[in-house]
Amino acid sequence: MSLPAATPPPPSPGTPAGDPVLELRALTRTHGSGIAEVHALRGISLSVYPGELVAVMGPSGSGKSTLLTLAGGLDNATSGQVVIEGQDIASLGRKGVAALRRRSVGYVFQDYNLIPALTAAENIALPRELDGVSVRKARKEALAALAEMKLTEIADRFPDEMSGGQQQRVAIARALVGDRRLVLADEPTGALDSETGEAVLALLRTRCDQGAAGVMVTHEPRYAAWADRVVFLRDGSIVDQTLTTGAESLLAAGATGAAGTSGSAGAAK
Ligand SMILES: Nc1ncnc2c1ncn2[C@@H]1O[C@H](COP(=O)(O)OP(=O)(O)O)[C@@H](O)[C@H]1O
Ligand SMILES: [Mg+2]
Repeated sequence: MSLPAATPPPPSPGTPAGDPVLELRALTRTHGSGIAEVHALRGISLSVYPGELVAVMGPSGSGKSTLLTLAGGLDNATSGQVVIEGQDIASLGRKGVAALRRRSVGYVFQDYNLIPALTAAENIALPRELDGVSVRKARKEALAALAEMKLTEIADRFPDEMSGGQQQRVAIARALVGDRRLVLADEPTGALDSETGEAVLALLRTRCDQGAAGVMVTHEPRYAAWADRVVFLRDGSIVDQTLTTGAESLLAAGATGAAGTSGSAGAAK
């Protein structure tokens, strides 16, 4: 399959369908204690529904990565709940969370987190194999995911033989392989040129349109414009939420002339 055309689609209809894939309930995360205490999150509530892509924006240190690691079960909340597909992950135990993560959650780390001793294809296949998919099938899926990212030629390269952009796309392929219902991505476009970045966003968007729920941290209004909603964090709290029309007006903010009228398709460029 070739990369989809990089034009943001029209915003999807307002009311989400079904039960949320991800629910954060009054989530807090405090690091350290006493005078060293840092309130990384101060009571975040957020629901993300099937088909929805939510962008998280905010200054450095506002809690974006913390929000994502908690949502992905990679760190424990100080208080509050993370509910994935109706299950409070605190009730699952360590093994249960690991299984849920492998099966349902695709996670793109800010620093990729590829395993250095494994090739691109092996990195993508590993979580699938751990989840019981045959080696052969996992390899086939990995190659298909690499082809989708236009990375077929680096399938058998190790991470230190790839550029930063290639590593990032392999990390994204690993997160998208195998019908994950929840895709969490921490600045997935950080190391990508704008054309590849748009193409990656198009893939994320497509995955959400097919029924996954996505949460993506980004600094770029132009990427946030692909989301259905933008959540703004400041000092560990949600300070604003807008629909994509808000992201469009973000885009238009620097531009002269007419801002996008509400409901207009795509992003002003
Ligand atoms: N392991 C940690 N120990 C102490 N403080 C931390 C730790 N992780 C994050 N923080 C602090 O929590 C706040 C939020 O961090 P983070 O979620 O990484 O923000 P962002 O991704 O928005 O830049 C920051 O003040 C950061 O310094
Ligand atoms: Mg961060």
